Amino acid sequence: MIGAIDLVNSTTRNSNAANSHRKDTAGDKPGRSVEPGWYGADPLTMDLKSNPHDAYRQLREQQPVNLTPAGDWRLSRYADIQQLLKHSNSGVRDTRGRIPEESQEDSDNSKFMLRLDPPDHDRIRNLVTKAFTPRALAAMRPAIEPLVSGELDRISACGTMDVVADLALTVPAASMCAMLGVPFQDRHELTELVSLATYRLAKLAIPDMQEQADAALFKLGSYMYALIEERRRRPTDDILSLLVQAEEAGERLSNDELLQQSIGLLIAGLETTIGLIANGMLCFSRHPDQFEKLAADPTLVHSAVEECLRFEPSVPVTRRILWEDTEFGGVTLPADAIVYAVIIGANRDPAVFSQPDRFDIARNEARHCSFGGGIHFCLGSHLARMNAEIAFLAMAQRFRDFHADDSQLQWAPSLFRIPGRLPATFKCRA
Ligand code: HEM
Repeated sequence: MIGAIDLVNSTTRNSNAANSHRKDTAGDKPGRSVEPGWYGADPLTMDLKSNPHDAYRQLREQQPVNLTPAGDWRLSRYADIQQLLKHSNSGVRDTRGRIPEESQEDSDNSKFMLRLDPPDHDRIRNLVTKAFTPRALAAMRPAIEPLVSGELDRISACGTMDVVADLALTVPAASMCAMLGVPFQDRHELTELVSLATYRLAKLAIPDMQEQADAALFKLGSYMYALIEERRRRPTDDILSLLVQAEEAGERLSNDELLQQSIGLLIAGLETTIGLIANGMLCFSRHPDQFEKLAADPTLVHSAVEECLRFEPSVPVTRRILWEDTEFGGVTLPADAIVYAVIIGANRDPAVFSQPDRFDIARNEARHCSFGGGIHFCLGSHLARMNAEIAFLAMAQRFRDFHADDSQLQWAPSLFRIPGRLPATFKCRA
């Protein structure tokens, strides 16, 4: 997921790397050589938020193992992405243990699991997984559902809504409060801090926001520190308490690790889930027959969530750094190459999905790539799915003739693909 950010960061680098890669690798080794280019999908000049799919189809068709003019690589075929994420010798840091675009010192201080390789990654992930038990998640559902119902009660008389403010934000905000065991009234302050702190990950791409992002991160750190201390003194039954107590073979998270995981979880979970719900409602608006199908058969909600994740993913790319020369589709990429897995392209790969541009909530095919893969596969996937199920079912059961106004859709100033505003109209079901 951090890859979405880094792809934009890396294209801003002033680099001659593309030509050197071409000479050093694909040209010299067995396998095809590649001509650097954007091949229809240039993240700097094109509106890849509004119109991504044609662009990434062109990329997949013209140069599936793509060398960008910035010197990085992009894979857009499903099979290549599975190979990269699950079977290649690669990680999220280079062979010297450095996170690309960051100093050695910043890399050494970075302890969120998505920025770590084994063995630290595995030790921390194992501990955090202990807090994300099915039981802990199931216990959150009754806390979230009434809050969503309350929000929909509030808007149902109007016949109009902003899908983001009135639904997509409410659900992850409610689950964030339940995770931390804080009152729902704190959600506005908390979501604002988390949204601002997210810009911290995009130092190069959005430099103007860095002062605000740093201030937000500092405040969030103090807030979480106080909360963690409180949970140490008086454990409750929320996920934060489980995280504080998580222990395996006598190992616990250090204070710094604990703080970074707690903040990282909020950052990893908020915008991504807003995107899933808002993009999903946009799909339902564009395909009203599918909305009615869900209303008529609520058991379809699981496959409906998967189809929304596949069709309009909120995290378009993730990435790995190769630790040895590796071949993808006849092209050999060198050790230390930065390789982006173009999730949004792979999710519509016709080699894997029949009629990939058709939105079908009853589809039952291969798993999409929207939660990444391998050892970094999204730890919050079950929570994200549960949140989206609550949101889509509540909407389909209450409302009909749901229509989101595409012309009023505003993308959030986020590096993910997330609506910031999406006005819609609806009628209440009898
Ligand atoms: C629709 C919502 C979400 C999407 C699309 C999403 C997507 C992703 C992606 C693409 C990755 C990177 C995987 C890789 O590089 O292989 C990731 C990792 C991660 N996600 Fe999510 N995510 C979502 C929600 C959440 C939630 C709700 C949480 C927790 C509250 C969460 C926690 C994490 C964590 C901890 C990681 C890092 C796992 C690791 O490094 O081992 N995510 N997510």
